[in-house]
Amino acid sequence: MILASEKGFILQTCDTTYIFRTTPYGHLEHIYYGQCLKSPDIEALSHKRTAQAGSTVAYTQDDLNYSLDRIPMEWSGIGKGDYRHSPAEIKMPDGSFVSDFIYQSHEINENTLTIHLNDNNVQLILTYTVYETANVITRRAQLTNNDSRPITIRRLASLMLDMAAKEIYILTTFDGDWTKEAHRHDRPLQYGMFINESRTGASSNKHNPGFLLAEPDAAACRGSVYGFNLIYSGNHMSYIERNSHELVRIGIGISPHCFEWELKQGETFQTPEAVMTYSNQGYNGMSRNFHNFINNHIIPEAWRMKPRPIKYNSWEPCFFKFTESKLVRLARQAKKLGMELFVLDDGWFKGRDNDSAGLGDYEVNKKKFPRGLARFANKIRKIGLDFGIWFEPEMVNPDSDLYRAHPEYAVQGATMGRNQLVLDLTNPDVRDYIVDSVSRIIDETDAAYVKWDMNRHISEFPNGRFFHEYILGLYDVLERIFTPRPHVLLESCSSGGNRFDLGMLRYSPQIWTSDNTDPVCRLEIQGGLSYLYPPSTMGAHVSDAPHQQTLRETPLSTRFNVACYGVLGYEMDLRHLSPVERKEIKSQIEFYKQHRMTFQYGNFKRQDTPKDNKTLWVSQDKNTTIAGLFQGTAKVSEGADTLRIPNLDHTKRYKVKTRPQRLYIKRFGGLVKHIMPIALNPSGLILLLANRYHALIDCVEEYECGGDTLEAGVLLNNQFNGTHYNNKTRLLGDYGSNLYVVTPS
Ligand code: DGJ
Repeated sequence: MILASEKGFILQTCDTTYIFRTTPYGHLEHIYYGQCLKSPDIEALSHKRTAQAGSTVAYTQDDLNYSLDRIPMEWSGIGKGDYRHSPAEIKMPDGSFVSDFIYQSHEINENTLTIHLNDNNVQLILTYTVYETANVITRRAQLTNNDSRPITIRRLASLMLDMAAKEIYILTTFDGDWTKEAHRHDRPLQYGMFINESRTGASSNKHNPGFLLAEPDAAACRGSVYGFNLIYSGNHMSYIERNSHELVRIGIGISPHCFEWELKQGETFQTPEAVMTYSNQGYNGMSRNFHNFINNHIIPEAWRMKPRPIKYNSWEPCFFKFTESKLVRLARQAKKLGMELFVLDDGWFKGRDNDSAGLGDYEVNKKKFPRGLARFANKIRKIGLDFGIWFEPEMVNPDSDLYRAHPEYAVQGATMGRNQLVLDLTNPDVRDYIVDSVSRIIDETDAAYVKWDMNRHISEFPNGRFFHEYILGLYDVLERIFTPRPHVLLESCSSGGNRFDLGMLRYSPQIWTSDNTDPVCRLEIQGGLSYLYPPSTMGAHVSDAPHQQTLRETPLSTRFNVACYGVLGYEMDLRHLSPVERKEIKSQIEFYKQHRMTFQYGNFKRQDTPKDNKTLWVSQDKNTTIAGLFQGTAKVSEGADTLRIPNLDHTKRYKVKTRPQRLYIKRFGGLVKHIMPIALNPSGLILLLANRYHALIDCVEEYECGGDTLEAGVLLNNQFNGTHYNNKTRLLGDYGSNLYVVTPS
């Protein structure tokens, strides 16, 4: 709901209130953002201007207390006495950088408020949209030049807002690189300016555009937390500036890095939309708002709240080395285990037997598929799986027919990354080529799923418009391919999560989270992303161990227990599984199918645990809660582990039961002698065979208790501590984990 009166503008969501007003001189003054106030008193909430301060510049000689540097603003120009970072750096018609946008009028259209401001002939429109039930407000800016002289935008943020730093906020960003995306980093917000930026051409695995500000005592389930993000997939920059008057300025938008955009008379520039949310229910409350917003408003309509298929992906088991018959064998196995979709990953393009050739050519590799792709896709469907296919449409290898015919399609003078060049998506001919080629293959193969990859950063660019025009070109291509084909499930990918952002999610309901599928790393990666994005958006696969990037050996159960808190898939060589591993995977898939909607769309929470080597995740919907308790490296003789389940009905009773899982004999090496009647060689044939066909069933715990007891915390059975084993002992060791299913009795 949006209320406008002479006192100000009040934007209400179910649980939050956002207020600003115009000052007597026509600037926009920020008043309040936080928990819902039913009848806010704007005057009481506002910053007072009762005394003039030294070292300030007065905006007008009529009111010496009115210094822009001391006022919390909704937007601020350059000059006129505000020395904080401006959201706009514009070379104005007179050639100066001084801008001073003054309120002219506003309109309210359902959930959208539009404010018109002017600086002479340059018009700025700020747009606010309220998503009540998601507790989200979005903002964007639009600049129009009505002057006969051109203006040049060097920076234009989507959102600017000044909040009072009542206490020192904790600023959280999500940073990393290839295979270590979105690691959470916290720091107290100090004086000066912090910048969260990407200059790689993509939203990047280095710094995700989303970030948080929280009061210092905020925790998983309590305290005030603000979340911010940007619906954009290219270079971004957010700045958070704490000034000496305890005001915190936040700006979010396209990165000004080498950005230069001229507007001639009558031309307009639109920023992407920035997103903000607030919760007084801690980090989980904040992320629940983002999750609801994304699942209900960002994801393409055809896929909203729709179950996502369990996929088998050919990349890790095959890389570039496969034949049609090998893939068919893998697909048959995948079907037997219960998977639903087969994804043919990289390596099917003509000439593409490694990463130095073939990108750009949409002919099939005849050595691998002598009778064509359509026939292979039909074979997959006959097996009973949907067919999905990989593309990397934004790139070209110099060793390709496309490059030989059209070298001008690539960004000129560029350095190479993964032996490839970036196609110039600002060129309409390039876009047409991509749309035609990808659409043709989707239609010929009747693909139900597309993996859209992008495997390098952009390093060179011809001008100051390129980075943004590239992203607009990308959105145009995605729109033209996928809008007419809403049934095709798109999973975007950029060497894993190098472009995990709200802009891509508008087209692709899910994103390949990371090339790193080691579950221990995934706890950090998926855990980090979960502050900003729901589990339904995260592709999460079970892969082989030892793991290909970390060489870490982890239990098959833990690989699944982590992957199930996302969109599940398998990416391992199924031909080498032992019969007992097959049984385990089959039961994992059955379990996931039974609880798929809880995992993909349930209310996901990260719970604080009293121990630093434990992670506790919870997915919860109306009838089911599934808690995953993950152990890092084991400690000797640890005290009891506690399972705390939040948000249950205190008047009801619940059953808690561990998901049964298997423990492999080989994991225990020579220790098996303690439970065997005869001494056996741990590397001998008998135990090797036993390991293929038998496994121990891990300890299953069952409790029945009230919701309040579960919230207080159930103390779990003891872990193995070196002296005793029975079927009530939890055998976790390094990286062990369990899932607990909680249902009403
Ligand atoms: C990077 C992706 O993240 C992988 O999953 C795989 O598709 C490779 N590219 C293929 O080249």
